This record gives sequence, C-alpha cells and structure tokens, in this order.
Amino acid sequence: MPDQTITSVSRENRKFRPSAEFKAQANLGSEALYKRLYAESVNSPEKFWSKQAKEHLVWRKPFKQVLKWQAPHAQWFLGGKLNVAENCLDRHLGTQRENKAALIFEGEPGDVRTITYRQLHGHVSQLAQVIESMGIGAGDRVAIYLPMIPEAVIAMLACARVGAIHTVVFGGFSPEALKDRINDCKAKLVITADGGWRRGKVIELKANVDKAVEGTPTVQTVMVVKRCGNPVTMKAGRDVWWQDTAAAAAKPHKAKAFDAEHPLFILYTSGSTGKPKGVLHTSAGYLLGAKMSAHYVFDLKETDRYFCSADIGWITGHSYVVYGLLANGSTIFIYEGAPNQPEPDRFWQMIDRHALTILYTAPTAIRAFMRWGDDYVRRHRLDSLRLLGSVGEPINPEAWIWYHTLIGKKRCPIVDTWWQTETGCIMISPLPGVTATKPGSATRPFFGVVAKVVDDQCREVPRNSGGKLVITQPWPSMLRTLWGDDDRYVRQYFSEFPGRPEIYFTGDGARQDEDGYFWIVGRIDDVLNVSGHRIGTAEIESALVSHPSVAEAAAVGRPDELKGQALCVFVTLKAGYAASEELKEQLRSHVGKEIGSLAKPDTIRFAAGLPKTRSGKIMRRILKEIAAGGAVKGDISTLDDFSVVAALQSDE
Ligand code: WTA
Repeated sequence: MPDQTITSVSRENRKFRPSAEFKAQANLGSEALYKRLYAESVNSPEKFWSKQAKEHLVWRKPFKQVLKWQAPHAQWFLGGKLNVAENCLDRHLGTQRENKAALIFEGEPGDVRTITYRQLHGHVSQLAQVIESMGIGAGDRVAIYLPMIPEAVIAMLACARVGAIHTVVFGGFSPEALKDRINDCKAKLVITADGGWRRGKVIELKANVDKAVEGTPTVQTVMVVKRCGNPVTMKAGRDVWWQDTAAAAAKPHKAKAFDAEHPLFILYTSGSTGKPKGVLHTSAGYLLGAKMSAHYVFDLKETDRYFCSADIGWITGHSYVVYGLLANGSTIFIYEGAPNQPEPDRFWQMIDRHALTILYTAPTAIRAFMRWGDDYVRRHRLDSLRLLGSVGEPINPEAWIWYHTLIGKKRCPIVDTWWQTETGCIMISPLPGVTATKPGSATRPFFGVVAKVVDDQCREVPRNSGGKLVITQPWPSMLRTLWGDDDRYVRQYFSEFPGRPEIYFTGDGARQDEDGYFWIVGRIDDVLNVSGHRIGTAEIESALVSHPSVAEAAAVGRPDELKGQALCVFVTLKAGYAASEELKEQLRSHVGKEIGSLAKPDTIRFAAGLPKTRSGKIMRRILKEIAAGGAVKGDISTLDDFSVVAALQSDE
C-alpha cells in the first residue's frame, strides 16, 4: 500500500572510511569486534548489560536482576544501589585524575575558570550539604535555571548526590514556561543566578524567577549565584545567595547510596503541540548508557579536552556535558555565551586557545557558521581537533562536507548521532574507528539498540523505502515514564501499533539503505504528501541547501484543492545573494535536478530567518500555519524569536 511507506529520494552516496591512524588508536577499531559485541548486545541483552554495568559503574550494592520488562515499563539493575555523583566524581579521587581538569569554563566576557576533579568534588559536596540543610532530600524536586556556568554542573551533581530530582530549565525560557515546569513537578527549591551573559547583554534570570515563583506555591527557597553583578531583589526568608551559603558548609560529605531505579532527573521536552512532557530518567541505566556511549562514540582518551556546545538545559547537556563525560573522567569545556560574540569566530578561537580535541555541535549551528563565511574559520588553526560530532537534526550532506573540510580539515571523523531526550543516550551513530560514514546518515545502531523501519502494521519495509523508525527492545537509558502522566507515556510512545505494547515509536521517519545504514528523513508528523508520494522534509531541504545561494530551508505542505497538498518551502539566503524571481526559478529546477520534478516546490518564500526552538530545531508546525495563510496557533513557548514569525506573516 503506497501510503504506508515514505518515498526516499536522497541520492547521497559518498563514503568516508576511518583513516588507518585513527583506527589504530581507537577505543574500538575492529569491525569484527563491533559486530560480535553488537550481536551479543541484542541477542543476549541481559548478559551483555550485566557485564557492562559491572565494568562501567561503581556499585555500593550489587544488582540482583538485570531487567524487569513489563512492556512498556522497564526496570534495570534491580536490587543494586549506587550514587550517581560518586560515579562522576569520587571514583576519580585517589587516581591519576584527581588533579586533572574536570571542567574548563569560558564566560562570554572572556573570564576563564579551571576546576579539577578534586575541586569539583569539593564544590558538589558543599552544595549537597547546603541543600540538605534546606530540607532537600531523596525524591524532592529542584529546578535549575542557570546560565552555562560551572555552578550549573555543580548544582546538577549536588542534587544527584543527595538523591533529589533535578529539572533543568534552559535559561532562555520565559517566566511563564519556568512557572509551568516548576508547578508540574512541584519543585521546592530553585537554583538560579542574578544573570547570564548573552551577546554582550545580561539576561536577567533572577528577575524571571521572581515573576515565575509568584505562581508557584511549592517553592520555599531560591538560591542565587552571583554571576553578572546586576541589581536583583532578594526576598527575605526565601532568597539566599549561593556564595554566602557555600562558605558555611565545609565538612566532608558522605553520599548515600540509592536504588538503581531512583529517579535522577525530569527534563521537559515540548512536543509540537500540547503541554511539555516531563521525561523521567532514573539512575543506573541512564548513567551506564551515557557513560558507555560517550566512551565509544567520542572515542574518549585521557588527554581529550571535549567541547559540547549544547546548553545543559537540553538532554545533550545532561548526557554529553555532565554525566557521560564526567563518569569517564574526561575534561569538559563549557562556554557561556553566543557563538558570534564578539565575532563569528568565537568557537574557533576557543578551540585554539584551549587546545580542544572534540567538538560536538548541531547542524543549525553548522549552517550558521557556513552562512557567516569561511574566512572566520580560516583565521584559526584548529589543529588540536581530532573528532567532530553532530546532533539534533538531520545534517544535510552539504553541511556535513563543510564541517568535514573546513573544521575537520578532512582529518577528523564525524559522528552524526541520532537520539532523543527520551532515549537518554546516543542510539544510532558511527563508531569513529570502525564505521565508514556517509554524509547525512547516522549510520548504524549502538550496542543494545534494535532499530527498525516499519510500515503502519509494524512490518519492516524493504531497504531504501522509508517508514516509521521504531526501537523494538528496551535499553538501559530509556525514559521510564512521563512525570505525573503515565497514561500519556504509554499513549505517546508505545501505542502506535495496536497489540504491540513493546514497540517504542520514535516519531521519526527513516529509511535504511543497502548497507543497513539509517537515514532520518524528518518527523513523521511533518512528512509531505507530494502528488501521492510521501517525502520526508529533510530530503527536500537538503536538496535546497546544496544550492550555493541557500543557507537554510524548511519544507512544509499547504492544502491545495487540486493536488491535495502543495509543497511550500521557506528559504534563507547566504550573504551576498539577493532574493529574486529568477533565483526562485533556479531553485525550482535545482530541486528538480537533485530529486526529480515531483518534488519541485510549488511556492518558494525567501525569509530573513526561520522560526526555531531554543535548541535550534526548525518549527515546521508554525511554517505550516503560515503557508496555509492562517494564524499561528498552539504552544509557542519554545519559539526562540517571535519577530521571525511576525516578519514571515507580514510579507505574505
Ligand atoms: C532529531 C536531541 C537526525 C530527531 C538529542 C529526534 C536527529 C529529535 C538527530 C530528538 C540526528 C536528533 N539526525 N535527526 N543525528 N539527532 N534528531 O529530544 O527528530 O531534543 O527525534 O534530543 O531530534 O530531539 P531531542
């Protein structure tokens, strides 16, 4: 039945094999070994994960049962006890790593701090005592609303240390969004800062918290880090300065052990509609997934200095700034501000200045760098880099090649990592020492991941046809439920195929090619129906971006009397190109040439910017409404810049 699958039109077939030098030093450099481990991980998952959990984690009490799976609810490592913060910090004390930098921080104004494992352990232990003295203990919720500064990492780990459940709310969210999240999880404590630096200005976080907590009956204490020195109002009896309290507690802190399934954090993720979902992750399974995937996917070495540009307000910041990296004893680099402050070469400057070896960033950032121009990159050496990563969206081949050539100097492997807030850790990704990469493909599943592309009846579709991406076996770092709404958890993720409560539906469309590689074609909800063919947004957008004039593109459907759905694309141009009817014609024929005439856009609209979420994903739902000529409805609390939408609506 043609409407059950997705037509895939991508013709990308370049292949990049790992170099002999990289392979020779890789944590995993043999295809045969990958295959053997992968087969073991999916054929005997309990045996495999039991071994990994013993090897990678420090347990206070060994687990008795590896997995209890009552679909769709999983529990891992039952009977086991551990402390997540201890697994990230204490385990490195008394080893070579004790005086190694755990964290290097650069603020937007240029201030730099280096914190060793020993020091980080000290800060976390202090804060743990402080929050315990405020009455925060196991299971209590703590909202963290901070800039990307070391205190954010310290706050997360202090919560983990005392068994409190943190919910990090990205500092770019409004007071309203913060209030809703605090109320949903009934947080008792909010940890914030006076402000944070962004593009040379102070973002007034404390003022936002003041507004939010007017409507949050559960909040008893607001703890404030002094970062920018901007004036703030402190409410007596409720607000305390972080710096004042930290000095008060200086004793060593003995961390308690918690059950493997003790909740670690709630992270709200906004679906395209409806209220945000509080994704719940627990302790041991999550940490194991984050640690092990970081070790293999980033090929971590003792000497690495790893830079992930994601804010800790996103899952990427949780798994691949804090937990996965510190559990491995790595050095993380964090940066507070905007990538184009003071100039668009800030990242490249920092990479050279701090001799960073790994960069993990998002396609939206890569496309912005491309748009700002190559000169900003060419000014810098970038010779410390050895590995690059991408996450968050399909990376179009054009951007991949640019990343590979300009940033990686054709020397660094690129790991295009597919995963979700819900999956906790990387699920589909190259292993840089073994996998030959293809630009735009996340390639093959990680250990323990059984991913399939299926039709509406959950039957696997043939190679090279598109369908729904599903995961058919539980994995340790999977979400456990949605906070306070288990029904929604079941409905949202495990109800796509009636009678198959064990099938996790990702919401993404994908295809597997002849080598079994996965290509994500976009969210299923965004799939376009073009003259009877269902085509993923990513493929059309990628064809557009391969034209020299195009910086970014978004494809959406618009109701059309004749065709059912007409294809409307929004395009932003690179510097030096001007919008014209002639260029529209050129773009149309370019898409025709790249994909076929069926995918020639009916309407092309040039835009100065595209509406994005604060983590950089294009909000196609909004563009759909604009294309249809209607008003923008639904939740827009995650929209980064409303002026973009206003501009799009006014130039119809
Ligand atoms: C998309 C981010 C293609 C996908 C870790 C997924 C990707 C959603 C990739 C999750 C990738 C993420 N290639 N698409 N490498 N990585 N996505 O929850 O649609 O912010 O379902 O987690 O981002 O976004 P989230």
